[in-house]
Parts: sequence; structure tokens; C-alpha cells
Amino acid sequence: MNRKKIVAANWKMNMTVAETVGFLENFRSLVDEVNGVEIVIAPPFTAIAKLSELLGGSQKIRLGAQNMSNEKSGAFTGEISATMLRELFVRYVILGHSERRQIFGESDVLVNKKVHTALASGLKPIVCVGETLEERDAGRENEVLEAQLRGSLAAVTAEQMADVVIAYEPVWAIGTGRTASPEQAQDAHAHVRTILGHLTNEATAAKVRIQYGGSVKPANAQILLSQPDIDGALVGGASLEPLPFAEIVKAGVPR
Ligand code: PGA
Repeated sequence: MNRKKIVAANWKMNMTVAETVGFLENFRSLVDEVNGVEIVIAPPFTAIAKLSELLGGSQKIRLGAQNMSNEKSGAFTGEISATMLRELFVRYVILGHSERRQIFGESDVLVNKKVHTALASGLKPIVCVGETLEERDAGRENEVLEAQLRGSLAAVTAEQMADVVIAYEPVWAIGTGRTASPEQAQDAHAHVRTILGHLTNEATAAKVRIQYGGSVKPANAQILLSQPDIDGALVGGASLEPLPFAEIVKAGVPR
């Protein structure tokens, strides 16, 4: 199955507008010759408008958001709607990141509502799943992944699933410098694909892109991205500087 790799920067609560402008100037020249891989940058909300203007509908670098409300509009202080993101030509939205789940208490039920809002608005969700260290040590990683996928993707049709990207991010590997081994990651990705097959059908599951996330760096990107079920990367820390992020993107170029 020929799945185009997708490498996304999750800047989290980093990067001012000025820093974003500087990053893009450098980064663009570094990926000028890069083809065959989809690049996504998810800046904080405050930098989206500027980045959108600078990208000007670029086919190469797509715009992402890090979160979104499940509600359409109204009295939800501090929230951002799908319509607001679409107005700025945002294409992807990261949903259910482990930091949202753990620090802000987001449940699978809420993530599922957001997934449906995103799909109904023409945004492609990047749905994050992943086990904690405690769950892995107890040998429960597969059941945790299955519960998160079933909950977060409830009532998503096979047709809609083709627009969904999954990010497998073991919580113990995020921002810790500890990466899942290529074998651990491949096993988890294969398991995710099997579950997607149960939720839809095998042909659909074979089309869905599954990113790996958790301390992806230039040094480990190549081996991770060459695993058969790893279709890209969701990159935090190493996406804050143009050079390492460009190197990770290049690891996704088909060869
Ligand atoms: P990290 O973050 O690359 O800094 O580990 C990844 C993520 O949380 O998406």
C-alpha cells in the first residue's frame, strides 16, 4: 500500500509570531527540493493567521492546529471553533494529544465529539493515542490502544476514516528523550491498523496513515519511518528548529 508519509510539527506552547516568521524563512529553503512527503506545521493559535498568510496555500507545507472545540460557536470562553480554523486555511487538527488528555482531562468521548466536528467541517483530524509507562509495564498497551481508538473514533464511517490520521504516541516517550524501539513502534502500529480494520474494513485500514510520535529526532527518524506501518511522525521538541525538523522530513521521502 502506497501511503504518502506525513511529518507534522507540534509546536505546543512555543513560538511567538516573530519566531514563526523566522522559522519559516529558514525552513522553506531547507525543504525546497523535498518531494513526496506531506509536511504539516501546527503552531499555537496566535501564530496561525501569520503562518497562513506566509504559506499562501502552499501545497508542500500544510497548516495544522493543536486543538479545537467540539462546539460550533457560542458562549465557550477561550475556545476556538472549526470554522475559525477553516477561515485561515487550516487543514489538519491534532485531537486528543496525551497532554490534552492528562493535563486538561479530555476523555475519549470528548475527543470523539471533536473528531466528528472536525470531519463535518472539512478538517482532517490527527487523533492521538498511546499508553502510559505503567500500562506498558503491565502488558496492557494493546487493550489501552483499542479502547482509545474505539472511543475516539466511534461512529466514524469508512469513508470518513480515509481523512483521519492516527498518531501513536507512547506517553512515556513524549519529551523524555526515550523513544520506542522500531520494533515496539511497528508492533503498536500494526495493532492500530488491525483495530482500524475492525472499525471499518481492511481496505480502509490499509489507507489510513499512522504517525509515530515521542522523541523523534534526526538520528532515529530514518529507522522509525522505514517500518512498514509507520507512515510519518508527529514531532514536538525537534520541530522547534528548522534544521532538525527538515532532516526528519527528509527521512520521510520515498526511496
Ligand atoms: P516530542 O513530542 O517529540 O517532544 O517527544 C511529541 C508530541 O508530543 O507530539
